[in-house]
Amino acid sequence: MTETPTRLHEEILAYYARGKEDARLREGGAPAGRLEYWRTQDVLRRLLPAEPARILDVGGGSGVHADWLARDGHAVELVDPVPLHVEQASRLAGVTARLGDARELAAPDASYDVVLLLGPLYHLPERADRLRALAEARRVLRPGGLVVAATINRYAQLHDLLREERYFTPEHRERTDAVLVDGRHPHHDEGFLTVAHFAAPHEVTAEFAAARLTTVGQYGIEGVAWLMGGLEDWLDDPDRRATVLAACRHIESEPTLLGASGHLLTVGGRPSA
Ligand SMILES: C[S@@+](CC[C@H](N)C(=O)[O-])C[C@H]1O[C@@H](n2cnc3c(N)ncnc32)[C@H](O)[C@@H]1O
Repeated sequence: MTETPTRLHEEILAYYARGKEDARLREGGAPAGRLEYWRTQDVLRRLLPAEPARILDVGGGSGVHADWLARDGHAVELVDPVPLHVEQASRLAGVTARLGDARELAAPDASYDVVLLLGPLYHLPERADRLRALAEARRVLRPGGLVVAATINRYAQLHDLLREERYFTPEHRERTDAVLVDGRHPHHDEGFLTVAHFAAPHEVTAEFAAARLTTVGQYGIEGVAWLMGGLEDWLDDPDRRATVLAACRHIESEPTLLGASGHLLTVGGRPSA
């Protein structure tokens, strides 16, 4: 692919420049974000090669995952288009961070064991841009390496707003229903995610195939637990938290439930030959 990628939406840069992303998944954040953090960690720890793996965390934000990956002993480099995120991630021990875009990586060919795309795919509304990001991930991955990509499910906003009762407001309901058609989520005011693409699970595997990545597995991150009223109390109690994580693990790859989760991880490989 030789065309220059279209510029990143200004709204996306402005949304993250507000500095709210770092707290989203950490202790003290909303329960669904904390569940996303623990479950992403749980799935990744089972999938990653033995440390020290060379990991490129593309769209790694402020380094919430890069932080524990580096503490686990992996060699982590992070790329993100938001200067504040790069500054925050650069302060983490064992993490190097630089500005960049998933569609045009500076890294040389075949230089990483694992490429994480835990953010870029759902902020690229055009399919051609998502394919470009996947092709770049494939290029910088060594043969036999893994790509792990996060997507937001097509029905996540509908579930989320229903849970919060905002779906009963006609204006919010109209916006939410519009996303169901093709997954395109335009920028709105405060209270909604910025420009995004909400993907159906089968759409992601089709895009992996188009980028010549094999799909190794798909994992619902939050299962259905993120929609349950007691979640906050459960996560605050270490025993109950472990039980919630185990319950999510039981159904994480059940095909009929993949789309019910808020986020989905799709794991792909670059075949050795
Ligand atoms: C919701 S945050 C996720 C951060 C982190 N990976 C995580 O899982 O917590 C989405 C991230 O994707 C980044 N992003 C958006 N578009 C991108 C692109 N085209 N290339 C690389 N990163 C991008 C944003 O700057 C932001 O840091």
